[in-house]
Amino acid sequence: MNTLTLTRPDDWHLHVRDGAALAAVVPHTAERFGRALIMPNLKPPVVTTAQALAYRDRILAAVPAGSSFQPLMSLYLTDNMPADEIDRAKDSGHIIAAKLYPAGATTNSDAGVTAIEKIHPVLERMESRGLVLCVHGEVAGDVDAFDRERVFIEKVLSPLVRRFPALKVVFEHITTAEAAQFVRAAGGNVAASVTPQHLLFNRNALFAGGIRPHHYCLPVLKRETHRLALVEAVTSGNSRFFLGTDSAPHARSTKEASCGCAGCYSSHAGIELYAELFDSVGALDRLEAFASLNGAAFYGLQPNPDKISLQRESWTVPAAYDYLPGDPLVPLRAGESLGWKLAA
Ligand code: DOR
Ligand code: ZN
Repeated sequence: MNTLTLTRPDDWHLHVRDGAALAAVVPHTAERFGRALIMPNLKPPVVTTAQALAYRDRILAAVPAGSSFQPLMSLYLTDNMPADEIDRAKDSGHIIAAKLYPAGATTNSDAGVTAIEKIHPVLERMESRGLVLCVHGEVAGDVDAFDRERVFIEKVLSPLVRRFPALKVVFEHITTAEAAQFVRAAGGNVAASVTPQHLLFNRNALFAGGIRPHHYCLPVLKRETHRLALVEAVTSGNSRFFLGTDSAPHARSTKEASCGCAGCYSSHAGIELYAELFDSVGALDRLEAFASLNGAAFYGLQPNPDKISLQRESWTVPAAYDYLPGDPLVPLRAGESLGWKLAA
């Protein structure tokens, strides 16, 4: 098979930042994807419906003419969010989810939730109004960095899913066999997004010949057994696993630094990277469900009406893209070749 045509995919987990950065990254996503769920961890975070709608307008202004790409918005949960904000969000028609960042777990999570009990009234409202809970599934604090996802399942996620059985929950960017197994064993209201980097790389990629800051993201890459479990999950045909790139742009100077930011930029090849992975395990026939159907179904939306085509053709990823003035963006697989190319 040298041409692969599939229903236009969606990206169910995307960071596009704000201001000048939007013009640099939004076109990459809009070229490939019909919709993307935009993460709210701006500085300051997107905590109200009014902020989310204004942010949506700024993103739309960065969508190239002729593209029908639609940003879908999320709110950032804090200890103090009033439950009525959930009603405003739902009634806006443009906000489909709220994101739980455990305080201190990742980039711009300082305003996140310090104890899950604090948001029980908000979760109850989300459960009754049908707003999806997206979860950064790691505990913060002294727990070993490679164990934070597993411990989060035991301490936070299992009890939460038991307490709110009708709440729709997306366990974002899963990285471990334990997370894949948790989702498989959970009921129909629990799903997971999976990134390209966690499918393509294990933690050796962080240390290949020296420290590799462009492979550093959170949750951090895990060992090979976990990568294999994720590949198994996304190619298994289980509809509760779907595409979420977690493409997270950071300017080069903030990645290549003594304390570098977490995040891999992948929107430039946001479907091609997955095609490469599915192809490598002989599962290209499973890519469309994972990339274009499963996520929409979980969020209660129709698939996109149009299609995209990929060609088996090698191309070289640029060493960097323009991003901020004098401070470019280094993409995943910079300077390397990819075997699948988006057809014009
Ligand atoms: O690697 C990451 N980058 N993980 C996150 O959870 C946040 C993201 C970002 O915003 O840069
Ligand atoms: Zn993210």
